Amino acid sequence: MTAHAGEPHGVRRATRADFGVLADVLARAFYDDPVTAWFYPDDARRLRHARRFFAIRLRQLARHGLIHTNAERTGAALWASPGRWRDDVRQSLMMLPMLPVLLPRIVRSTQAVREIERRHPVAPHYYLSVLGTEPARQGGGIGSALLAAALRICDATGTAAYLESSKESNVSFYARHGFAVTERIELPEAGPPLWLMWREPPSRHRTGHPADR
Ligand SMILES: CC(C)(COP(=O)(O)OP(=O)(O)OC[C@H]1O[C@@H](n2cnc3c(N)ncnc32)[C@H](O)[C@@H]1OP(=O)(O)O)[C@@H](O)C(=O)NCCC(=O)NCCS
Repeated sequence: MTAHAGEPHGVRRATRADFGVLADVLARAFYDDPVTAWFYPDDARRLRHARRFFAIRLRQLARHGLIHTNAERTGAALWASPGRWRDDVRQSLMMLPMLPVLLPRIVRSTQAVREIERRHPVAPHYYLSVLGTEPARQGGGIGSALLAAALRICDATGTAAYLESSKESNVSFYARHGFAVTERIELPEAGPPLWLMWREPPSRHRTGHPADR
């Protein structure tokens, strides 16, 4: 698939052929993430477990979402389309290979998912499930370019966007892209905090929504 002309960092929609590379990139990007470390405390196996998780997540959201990567495939943004943030039966079954990893932490993971899901907004929105850049390439604008590609779709369609940030240091990054913190929560069993962030689309008038013409 070709990049949109002039797109920073050659951002484009990812295809299935990209998923192997992107699962590796995301596993490395999230290696020191507090939530990833809480779910997979074993340092030695975390990379492998996280890679398996991201490979499944990529396949899930290929069906019900939007996946962007950059030309050199050093970053990825995984979004669920409006109304599709909650896994359906088929998506849940796709996660079955993760069961042996999650089983020792089944209480912790079930409670965490419940806490996160019960706060999920009801209003229609694109849901940013995963955003990550290869550690050695962070700070070079790839994450912003990936985010911007989907936010343009949000703006053009007058759709809100939502995410859970697992790092306080990312809150200002997302705020620069129009997100605002709605709540800070703490995951159960002394889990790490999460910052829930919502982004209203610009007013339909400013986005040139067809209904305003
Ligand atoms: C958050 C993340 C996706 C941002 O991607 P990126 O490619 O570094 O994004 P950008 O270069 O466009 O912008 C990052 C901004 O945060 C700062 N930043 C964040 N992490 C940084 C890092 N590790 N190195 C350098 N700068 C960093 C940059 O200075 C930049 O600030 P600016 O917007 O004022 O220029 C990336 O740092 C990452 O993958 N982090 C690990 C995984 C993660 O936390 N994902 C988000 C989960 S909520």
